[in-house]
Amino acid sequence: MKTEETITDRAVDPDILAYTVGDDPVLDRELTTWDCMGTAAHVTMLSEMPVEPPVVTKDEAARVREELAKVVAAAKAGEFTIEESDQDVHMAVERRLTETLGDLGKKIHTGRSRNDQVAVDVRLHVKDQLLGLEDELAALARALVDFGKAHDRVPLVGRTHLQPAMPSSVGVWATGHAEMLLDQTENLEAAYRLNDLCPLGSAAGYGVPLPLDRKRTSDLLGFARPLHNVFGASMARGEDEAALLCALAQMMSVLSRLAEDMILFSMPEFGYFRLPRAYCTGSSIMPQKYNPDVLELVRSKTAQVLGLATASLSLLHAMPGGYNRDLQDCKGLYMKGLSIARTTLRILAKVVAGMSIDEDALRRGFIPGVFATDVALRKVAAGTPWREAYHQVRDNLEALSSEDPDAAVAAKTHAGATAGLDWSFYASRLDALARSVAERRAAFDGCRRALLG
Ligand code: ARG
Repeated sequence: MKTEETITDRAVDPDILAYTVGDDPVLDRELTTWDCMGTAAHVTMLSEMPVEPPVVTKDEAARVREELAKVVAAAKAGEFTIEESDQDVHMAVERRLTETLGDLGKKIHTGRSRNDQVAVDVRLHVKDQLLGLEDELAALARALVDFGKAHDRVPLVGRTHLQPAMPSSVGVWATGHAEMLLDQTENLEAAYRLNDLCPLGSAAGYGVPLPLDRKRTSDLLGFARPLHNVFGASMARGEDEAALLCALAQMMSVLSRLAEDMILFSMPEFGYFRLPRAYCTGSSIMPQKYNPDVLELVRSKTAQVLGLATASLSLLHAMPGGYNRDLQDCKGLYMKGLSIARTTLRILAKVVAGMSIDEDALRRGFIPGVFATDVALRKVAAGTPWREAYHQVRDNLEALSSEDPDAAVAAKTHAGATAGLDWSFYASRLDALARSVAERRAAFDGCRRALLG
C-alpha cells in the first residue's frame, strides 16, 4: 500500500489523506497570521512557566517570535506554502520553524493540540474580520442616512402589502433601513464576544499536566478571558462560528429587503429611484435593458448565507462531545459567509451612494386613497370618535381627493415620523459604532504588534 509521510510520522493512504485534509491547505492560508500570533503567545507563556529546566528559555522564545514574524511576512508575499503532507497551517508552521530553528522548532507544540490551536486561529480571524465587517456595515448605514438626509422630506408613498398606504418620505424609508442595519450590530457583537474567549491551554480538550498560565496567553492575544472548562473549550469550536453565521444570515436578510425595495422602486413602473447606468447590466438580446442584477444577487447571496448557517448547525447537532474532525468543515462555511457578507455590504454602500431620485415620479404615486387615514384623523381632531370617522371615510372613498403630499409629510411631527426624524440620533449611533470598532481594532493590533513586531 502506497502511503504519504506526514510530520506526525504516521503513514497515511494518499486518498484518505486527501479526503481528510480537504481544502485546508487553501483555507488555512487565511489563518497563517493568526496561527503565528497564537504560537507566539503560547511560546512566550511557555518561556515564563515555572519549571526546571525551562521548556524554552526567554531567548529561545524571542527567536521563535522573530521567525514567526518572518513566516507572516512570507505568507503576505505569497511565499509560504501549506503542502498536503503538512495537512494544515499548524503543521506547516511547525515544519518551517523546525527547518529554520532545528530542535527549538520541535518545542513549540509543547502542551498544545491542534484542537486548541485551530480554535484560537479561527477566533482571532473572526475577530479581525468582524471588525472589518462592522466598519463596512457602518459605511452602508452612513450611505443610507446621507441619502435620507439629502432627500429628507421628499414625499414617498408608504406601502403595506405593497399597496399604497399612507404618506411617507424618502428620509423615513432610508433611515428605516439604516436603523435596521445598525441594530444588526447587536447580533454581530454577541458573536464577537463569543469569539473573544481564549481556548488555548485546553489542548486536545482535556488540559495537560503542565503549569500552563492560560490567563497569560489569553491576555497576550487580547482576548477578554480564557474559556474556563477545557472540555467546554473544545466543544465551543464550531458553535461560535455558527453563532457568527446566524448573525450574518440575519444581517443579510436585512440587506436583501433593502435590495428588494431598491429593485421595485427603480423599476420603470415606479420610477422613484434611479440607479446609475454603470451599475446596471444589459441584455444580450434586448438592446433597451438596464437590469439591476447587482441587487438581485443580494437576494441570492442572502439565501446562500442562510444555507451556510444551516449547514454549520446541521454539522454540529449530532456530534458527540470533544473534538471530531467534522469541525474542520466549519471553517470553509464561516469563511464563505464572511466573504459574501462583507462584499455585499461594500457593494450596497456603493449602489446606495450612487442612487438618485425622481421627485415627480415620487409625487405621482400619491393617489387620493393615500390620504384616507389622514382625513379620518382630521375628523377625530374635530371631535368625531375614531371608528365613526373611519366609517365615514370608508363609506365615501370616492369623495377623497388629491392633497398636498408635502403638507402630509410635514404633519407627522412625532419621533421617527416624516417630520420628526432625529438626525443626531443616527449621527451619534454611527459615531459610537466607529469608536467601538476603532478601540477594539487598536487593542487587537497592539497585541499583534507586541507578539510579532
Ligand atoms: N485541520 C484540523 C481542523 O481544522 C486541525 C485539527 C486536527 N485535529 C485532530 N485531532 N485531527 O480541525
